[in-house]
Amino acid sequence: MNLELQGITKRFGSLVANDHIDLSIAPGTIQALLGENGAGKTTLMNILYGLTQPGEGTILADGKPLTIHSPKDAIAAGIGMVHQHFMLVPVFTVAENVTLGDEETRALGLLDRRRMRRKVRELSEQYGLRVEPDALTGDLPVGVQQRVEILKALVRDARVLILDEPTAVLTPGETEDLFRIMRELRESGHAIVFISHKLKEVQAIADTITILRRGRVVGERPPNTSEDDLAALMVGRSVQLRVAKTIAKPGRVVLEVSDLVVPGGPSAVEGAGGEGRVAVDGLSFRVRAGEILGVAGVQGNGQTELCEALMGLLPVTSGSVHLNDHDITSAAPAMRLRAGIGYIPEDRQQDGLVGPFPVSENLVLDTYNRPPFASGPALNLGEIRATAERRVKEFDIRTQSISTPVETLSGGNQQKVILAREVGREVRLLLASQPTRGLDVGSIEFVHRRIIEERDKGVAVVLVSSELDEIYALSDRIAIMYEGRFTGFRPPDVPVAELGLLMAGIGGSGTPEAGEADSPERTSPGASAPAGPDSPEQAPAGDTGPTGPPEPAGPAGPTGDAGPAGPGGDDPTVTVRKPT
Ligand SMILES: Nc1ncnc2c1ncn2[C@@H]1O[C@H](COP(=O)(O)OP(=O)(O)OP(=O)(O)O)[C@@H](O)[C@H]1O
Ligand SMILES: [Mg+2]
Repeated sequence: MNLELQGITKRFGSLVANDHIDLSIAPGTIQALLGENGAGKTTLMNILYGLTQPGEGTILADGKPLTIHSPKDAIAAGIGMVHQHFMLVPVFTVAENVTLGDEETRALGLLDRRRMRRKVRELSEQYGLRVEPDALTGDLPVGVQQRVEILKALVRDARVLILDEPTAVLTPGETEDLFRIMRELRESGHAIVFISHKLKEVQAIADTITILRRGRVVGERPPNTSEDDLAALMVGRSVQLRVAKTIAKPGRVVLEVSDLVVPGGPSAVEGAGGEGRVAVDGLSFRVRAGEILGVAGVQGNGQTELCEALMGLLPVTSGSVHLNDHDITSAAPAMRLRAGIGYIPEDRQQDGLVGPFPVSENLVLDTYNRPPFASGPALNLGEIRATAERRVKEFDIRTQSISTPVETLSGGNQQKVILAREVGREVRLLLASQPTRGLDVGSIEFVHRRIIEERDKGVAVVLVSSELDEIYALSDRIAIMYEGRFTGFRPPDVPVAELGLLMAGIGGSGTPEAGEADSPERTSPGASAPAGPDSPEQAPAGDTGPTGPPEPAGPAGPTGDAGPAGPGGDDPTVTVRKPT
């Protein structure tokens, strides 16, 4: 089926989300949609899937007009969609989720369920979409849940498959799997619309790339177009894909984590023999003022739990967390925010925003009850508004106004609201978990620059990212996390092959049993060069930071720290830090 979108226009109030968009979707092709946050990609695909109605324009299927009033119409026309945020029911099995909402099947009862299960099996074999029909969806890794979504569409005979940022939450291995499936679907004549912010992915898989900007099609390009050109087309200016930065000047220790053990997630605990499972398995590390510790690793190796434990959102089994020498191991999250921790959560949909609240209030969620936003019990609305206006401008948040409910913003612009809030206030420690997931290249450039600025102001930064490009672009030191432990610390010029092996749990500074996390790294013998963070000439850059918990009385500068040989000592590999 050849789909032709002609002159599609969609307005939300005065905002034109889609402005006379033409797009053709041919069988046996992968059509990529690129565009900055808020460009109108999801809106356009929601129109094609019947979730929203266009103000103007027509959709033709093989030359004949097609009316799509609801997803039911879309499905009947052979169109399937996997959304930017999945919509599966976690407590249902795979088979139940696949058949969910299929009225026909339910009416036909058990027999048809059996047929459906068979179909699921056949399809998973045909396209290499391996899933276990009886598995509970909530227990499955994200990549497998996504396969369930794809299956759900294929079971309904979709010939056109819309994938809205399908790789944003996938591990590199899962992305490869998805690409293999996409190629097989293309081979069998399916049409795929692929939305992504990752230019390399688009180059690797697309047959044609259509670029949207502010609701309009601004170009169509072949996949061999350079990243720079694609980026420039998307945002209308040239973009620095790798932000320049100077060598870090680490100061005093801001965060000290010792022997931290955090229990595994609910699915791990429920699993067979999962009782004793731990997500974070005895981690010890320090982060200093003015440095960025990048935590690299395939998602699901305890990074999420580490961040949540550092934020006080997950209880710890044992170990301790100190912020500026204050024990915060059992402090409540609100207290940690007040103590100067900025937190960019990984799951921003769930943890970061209150959907129906206006953008302005979401921008001050954690500080609204304190000066300057409040004096006593009274909120200072003028100040809240002024701050919101400023941050919206600074972070280029595309919203109609600051009173717009945040849930109507595009995916990437919602992210920017959280970033603006967390990076916009004064902090001493910034915990950034996948900070640019879902952001367009222009916004990534901006966020990266901001994170480096924070570092240069003396903020200690823990960056958790599964994007190696991001780890390399920002980190002053890289810790590689595998199965709840750090398999090693490396300087930012570590070869990607070595990083990859460490991320797979191969190599590293010893077996997990060796307890290397508690002891000095042994990977770079002789790395006791004088340029290390423990050397006295490095001024405690962090002490000029914002006000937080009271300063410790004693000398807590770099010289007061245990060197690499001390208990919980840092990895000496930091001393081979090089400019990037
Ligand atoms: N229900 C809605 N009400 C009001 N405005 C909306 C609504 N849905 C989308 N918009 C606006 O339409 C514009 C396009 O949003 P859309 O979600 O299509 O962007 P996108 O290209 O998918 O961006 P992203 O890369 O961030 O996901 C945005 O400015 C958004 O705020
Ligand atoms: Mg979108």
